[in-house]
Order: sequence, then structure tokens, then C-alpha cells
Amino acid sequence: MGQLINLIIDGKELQVPAGTLVVDAAKRVDVDIPVFCYHPKMEPVGMCRMCLVEIGRPQVNRATGEYERNEDGSIAIQFGPKMETGCTVVVSEGMVVRGFSDEVARARKDIIEFLLTSHPLDCPVCDKGGECPLQNLTMEYGPGESRYLYDEKKHFSKHYPLGELIYLDRERCIQCGRCVRFQDEIVDDAVIGFEERGRSLKIVTYSDPGFDSYFSGNTTDICPVGALTTSDFRFGARPWEMKSAASLCTHCPVGCNLALNVRREHKTGGDFVVKRVLPRQNELVNEIWICDKGRFAHHYASSQERLTQPLVRENGELKPVEWDQALEVVANQFKAAGPELLTLASGRITNEDLFNLRALNDHLGGSTALYSEMAGGELVAQVGVGLGTNFSNLGEGSTIFVVASDLEEEAPIYWLRVKQAAERGAKLIVANPRYTKTDRFATHALRYPYGGEAALVMAMINSISTKRVELPSDYKDFDRSEAIQIAAKDFSEAENAIILYGNEGIGLQSSRHLAQACSNLLIITNHIGKENNGLISIWQKANTQGAWDMGFQPSDNLKELIRSKKTLYLVAADPAGDDPQSLEAVDGADFVVVQELYLTETAKLADVVLPAQSFIEREGTLTNAERRVQRFYPAVPARPQARPDFSITAQISQLLGLELEDKFPYRVMEQIADQIPDYAAVSYEKISAVEDQWPIIGRSDVYFGGTTYENSQGLGQQLQPAAQKGEPVSLGAVNPEDPAAEVEGEYLAVPISILYDRGQTVLPAALLHQRIPEPYVVIHPETTAALGITDGAQIRLEIEGYEVEVTAYLDETIPGGVVLVPRSMGVPIFEQTPVKIALVQEMVT
Ligand code: SF4
Ligand code: SF4
Ligand code: FES
Repeated sequence: MGQLINLIIDGKELQVPAGTLVVDAAKRVDVDIPVFCYHPKMEPVGMCRMCLVEIGRPQVNRATGEYERNEDGSIAIQFGPKMETGCTVVVSEGMVVRGFSDEVARARKDIIEFLLTSHPLDCPVCDKGGECPLQNLTMEYGPGESRYLYDEKKHFSKHYPLGELIYLDRERCIQCGRCVRFQDEIVDDAVIGFEERGRSLKIVTYSDPGFDSYFSGNTTDICPVGALTTSDFRFGARPWEMKSAASLCTHCPVGCNLALNVRREHKTGGDFVVKRVLPRQNELVNEIWICDKGRFAHHYASSQERLTQPLVRENGELKPVEWDQALEVVANQFKAAGPELLTLASGRITNEDLFNLRALNDHLGGSTALYSEMAGGELVAQVGVGLGTNFSNLGEGSTIFVVASDLEEEAPIYWLRVKQAAERGAKLIVANPRYTKTDRFATHALRYPYGGEAALVMAMINSISTKRVELPSDYKDFDRSEAIQIAAKDFSEAENAIILYGNEGIGLQSSRHLAQACSNLLIITNHIGKENNGLISIWQKANTQGAWDMGFQPSDNLKELIRSKKTLYLVAADPAGDDPQSLEAVDGADFVVVQELYLTETAKLADVVLPAQSFIEREGTLTNAERRVQRFYPAVPARPQARPDFSITAQISQLLGLELEDKFPYRVMEQIADQIPDYAAVSYEKISAVEDQWPIIGRSDVYFGGTTYENSQGLGQQLQPAAQKGEPVSLGAVNPEDPAAEVEGEYLAVPISILYDRGQTVLPAALLHQRIPEPYVVIHPETTAALGITDGAQIRLEIEGYEVEVTAYLDETIPGGVVLVPRSMGVPIFEQTPVKIALVQEMVT
């Protein structure tokens, strides 16, 4: 901690770090100075004047430099002639603040009266009513009556869509600028702004589509009035009617903490529904932010398309049956299968689910596989980020290396935290074959051809180490690249260094090389085994790291593995929906059990379909990419026929003579702690512990007012990587291959990730449909010129004998000769794959 400053606020003596603002200092001694425009996560602007306070400073004798003294020997304090804004003034030694004097009270009255001159005062129907800072502060400090007449109020549009996700009530806006500043300062998407001046000032959107940002929903949380609302919540419920449950986002490996607000609904026959999703404060994970996918995609869990009953195939058709019957059929088949059983599961399910799956499979002597196209979970367990890691502590002296990842698309809150670290002075190395938004903050933007990612990391190692490794012949130039050498130097000399690796453009094999190369770089530069150092994998699912920890690993040849097994147990995995070749493989099995939320393409092929509960109906734990084990809680009662995955597996096991816990996930966690050494110290009790966080929110605070940011149900428990436990870690071999030779008439299709894809847990959310594109690919205009393909044209891709039609978008910022294919969009590209392209139709305007 730097220099500490002594001051007195409302008679309370305190010590705070130099640089603290008066309003924040006051908060530390439970003095709530009211604010509107100020927000502790943003730079102060002093726009609203709500925080006016009287500030006195010690009088100093100019001649001697000594403090002037009163007769009683105390230091003489001189108060300024005017009040000052507590949100812009930084504390100074000996300062005395009067936050609640008569003069301050008078000023607050006037400010509130002024703010309400054009405010509609429609609290009885306002979405913010009941948790509104303006309402609260008016009741507490306002004049009670206004000198302005109602007829003098200005009237504006009350249902103005800034985009389809966020609506603005222009009359309610008090012009605090929090929303505009958030978009500009925090997320660098300046897509909204002020237009006009004075009482006519209004918020407008500059983007097409409107309010085009992955973080737009956060503005509705920080808006201190009911001006900004999400389209799925506005006029939907009053805050006091809802209950709040602690939850986690299940869409990416960040593991953002959520609060689900639920209420019974008339239109759903009295059932509980999730009315809104809010961030839950966890300064170690998501601070107080979430992305719009986390906020809006949850609607998939409430979809009417969810499975409602177990299904068993009879005479070629899936027929609804009771659970007992379905479980018995499954148990008999599993017993007969023994080692012929393959259990395939994804990181969409919890640690408890995966542990039970593994236990059942081991009992039968079968095989397991992780449904994932990324490798490196075992390396993250060894050299992952150390216990105590917090992106907020990265700044000057730190280096962050993002490789093969379009971070904002794959893990938006990691993107935000990396951006903030770069703004605090951390060096940021971004390596990707194309420009991504992360480049905006990069110290070094390195380019490589698709497939060259591991070789680039090896070249970094070569430039700083005597342990030279031979690069594949096509990438030998990397060893002479000055840009790579300078970046490598910055990495090796950093006090703290973190690598985030993704799987842009690559499949499982290449991902394995990349993960190992990154791990080697960290080991060689000694950036392992301590906080704020280590490896983070940008997994595609929320709990893929947990799945690795529970003993699941991806198969090098999944299709072959599926083909080689007679009985399949597929949990939260839809290989048939993702890939026509896998569909054939699944269809070839003798007996298929699918445990799912929906009747997926794979479920349609199954002999038994078992309906699982979604994350809003149950509890469990997920392990995020930083190996923080976090817990979510049930928010709504379970649908009558759906069961949690760990229970279903346990009930099958019981019929096979294996006792597994089927009721309480905490008991499964006890077994996990018992059997998996890395989880030995983990317990539901510790995961659920909380401690004070800064900024302080969630009490009767005036900064955030009423939203359920407060985290009272757990900050999670981070695991120690092997390197931090003092266990030996060693360098591994990396043998990336040269790229395949070019073939006339063929192009290289490579997979990329986008946030709003057409996956099972996104597409059912109708609210996002305008943001979810139709299947498309991206190609460099020079690549398509010879084929006569223009932007927006419909083209046909021929992929290993399979054909699919998609829209082609042209982009000059990507490398020539490649076709970028977004994942989970219906085009089965999982690694670098040669494709043929043909024009079907020019864009129809
Ligand atoms: S819309 Fe809300 S956050 Fe934005 S300026 Fe108006 S009151 Fe402030
Ligand atoms: S960043 Fe990831 S975990 Fe956080 S809300 Fe978005 S999708 Fe969910
Ligand atoms: S001027 Fe301080 S909160 Fe607005």
C-alpha cells in the first residue's frame, strides 16, 4: 500500500490511501454521500452536483510552512467559501469533511428539485421504482414540493428503442452520463452519446444495429433511474415482487457470477420464471459486469422445447415412459455393454455430474471422452494461474499474451479485464492471423498464417532461451522476426505474465501443440507457480476445465472412437447435430442413451432420451478457466420430469450395484475432495464464503441502489496449480507440422468462434435472434475475385464430400486464401480443412 492520508469525515477519523476520492473515503466509514453521476468504476466527471460537501483543509503558515494552530493547540482548519463535489476531490492530509451540515442539506434539496424539473415522476409504473437512487434520495434529501409546475415539464419519447435489447425512457433520464461513459471508458464501444443540450439533451445511438455492444445490458444496472431498461424486463415485474438466487453464467469459461431474479407468472400458469439476470459482484472474476450473452441467453432454459419426459424407442419410435422404466432399460444395456460403453460428455455440465459419470463408467470398465476441440487441461492444472490471481492487480510491470483467440467473442469479460490491465500499463501481446478488437490495446500485434501459432510461441522461446527448438520449415522465418523477439523480451522480463490461449483456426491436435508451447514459454521464463502468472485456456464451455479435472479428455479421433463402441452414453453433447459424419457414427451404435435438455439431432437417434435439468433449476459447481470452483443455486422449482445429471447417473448406477450420491451435490463434492487430490481442500462451505469487497455495494447504498449486485452466497475457491504446490513441472515436446501443400481450386477453411452462435444454449433465446446471424463465412476479397463472389453472395462450400450453402462476407483485414467459418453455425468445420467454393447467387438487394 502506498502513502496513507489522515482525515476526518463527519467527526470520524480515518486513514485511506493517497488518491482516494472523498466520496469513497466516506463510504469506508459508513458515511454515504449521495451521488448520481459518480460511479466508483469510472472516472469522476462532477456533472450532477449531488455530492456537494463542505471541505476544510489545514491552514498553513506560508512563511514557516507549519500548520496554523487554534488557541487550544489544535490545527486550524479553513473551509472553502463554496461547497465542493466529493466525487472529484481527492483526500489530503488533515482534511475535514462535513457531509451532512445544514448548508449541504440545503444544496442537496436544490439539486434534487432541479433534477426533477423535467422528471415524469411516474414511479408507480417505473421499472426502477423500489430500487431507484433518484426515488430514494428524493425521499431522503428532497424538498417534498417543487416550485416548478407540471405543465412546464418537457415531454419526450418514453419507449425509445436504443436497440432491440435496450429501451430508453427519455423523460426519466437525469443526464448523469453513466451509460455513455461506461460504453466509452469501460468497454470502448462508444455507440451511444448525448445529443442536444440543456433540458433537451438526450441519449442517442450511433450504431447500426442500435446499441451494438456485447456489454449494453450493464448500462441498465448503472443507470440511476428507470431511463434504461432491458427489453425482456421492462414493465415485467416490480423489484419487490422478485426473489433472487445466486447463480453462474454457463456460457463461457470466465464463470461470471449472476443473480437470477424470479417471480411467479400468471401467463405461465403460476410457474416461477426468471425475470432478469443481473451481475453478482465478484471482484476476482467479473467485478460487477456481465456480457449480454450471459444476461439474455438464459431464456433457453425456459424454452417450451425442453424435454419433458424420458423417452424410450419402441418399434422405431421414441415413446414417453416413466423414469423407472427408462432407467431400467439403460441399466440393463450398460451392464451388457461393460467395456463397450463410451461415455461422452461436455463441459456444459457440473463437476458433480462429471464425477458421477466417470465413476459409473469406471465401474463398468468403459471409456470416457470429453466433447471438446481444445487441449491443454492437464497443463492448466500444472502451470495455470496461481492462487490469488486477480486481473485487477495486473498493470505496469505485467505482460499479458493473448494467442489464437478473438477474446471479446470467446470470453467477453476476460477481454474487458485484459483491456483494463493494458490501460493500467500492462504490456499486451496479441498474436492472431487477423485483426481482432484486442489489437486496439496491444503493445505488440503479431501475425502468423493459420496453423503457425505454436511455431510463433516456439520462436519466442528461441529468442530468449538457450533451449532452442527446431521450427517447422515453413515457419523458420519466425526465428528472424524482430517483432517476435521484442515481444518475447517483454514477456520474459515481466514481473508477472499470463498467457490466454484460444483455438482460433485450429483443431484438437494443433491446440495441443499450442498449449504445450505456451506452457513451455511460461516455464522457461519462470512465470509459473505464483499469483498473477500462468496459463489460461479459453475453453468453449463453462466447465471444460472441471471436466479435465474430473478425468475427461478429448479423443484424437472421436468419430472413430464412437464407431468402435457398441453402447453410447452422451451427456450434454450433440455430435450428430454438429457433424454429419458423427451422425453416421452415432447412428451405427447398437444402443444410444442421450441425457439432454432438448430433442437434439443426437437425441433423435437415441434409444433412450433422459431429460436433464437446466442450471436455473438445480445446484452444482463449475470450475472456471482460472480454476476457481464456484457454486450456483436453484432459482426456480425443477420441472416435474427433469432430473439433475448427477442424479440420473447415480440412479442408473444404483441399478448396477454402485452406490453414488443422487440427492445432494455437496455430498458428491465431498467424494470429489476425497478422490481428486487437487480438490482435496474444496468444500461447499468454503466455496460459499464471502468477504468484504470494494466498491461496497448492495447495502442501503446510494451508488447502485437496490440492484442485487450483492454477493452473499460465495466467491468460490481457487485451486492451486501443481507448480505452486512445489510439484515438479517439465517442458514438453512440441511438434507442429508444416501446412498442407496448396491444391489448385481449394481453399483452407478454418474455424473461428463468435459470441452469438446458433448453439443449443443460444438459439432458443428469441430475444437474441436479431443478433444471431444466418450461417456465413468470411473471405478476403482477393480470394473471391476470380470466382466472381461479392459481399453478401450465397455460396456453396464443398467439405470432404459434404455440401452446404452459406452467405459469404468479404473482409480485407483477414488473410487471403482462407475461409473463416464460425463454429456452432451449422457448417461442420472443426480444424483446418480444404474446401471448394462455388457461387450460388449474388446478394439479392
Ligand atoms: S440514461 Fe440513465 S445512465 Fe444514461 S445519462 Fe440518463 S440517467 Fe444517466
Ligand atoms: S463473459 Fe462469459 S461467463 Fe461472463 S457473462 Fe459473458 S458469456 Fe457469461
Ligand atoms: S457531481 Fe458528484 S456525483 Fe455527480
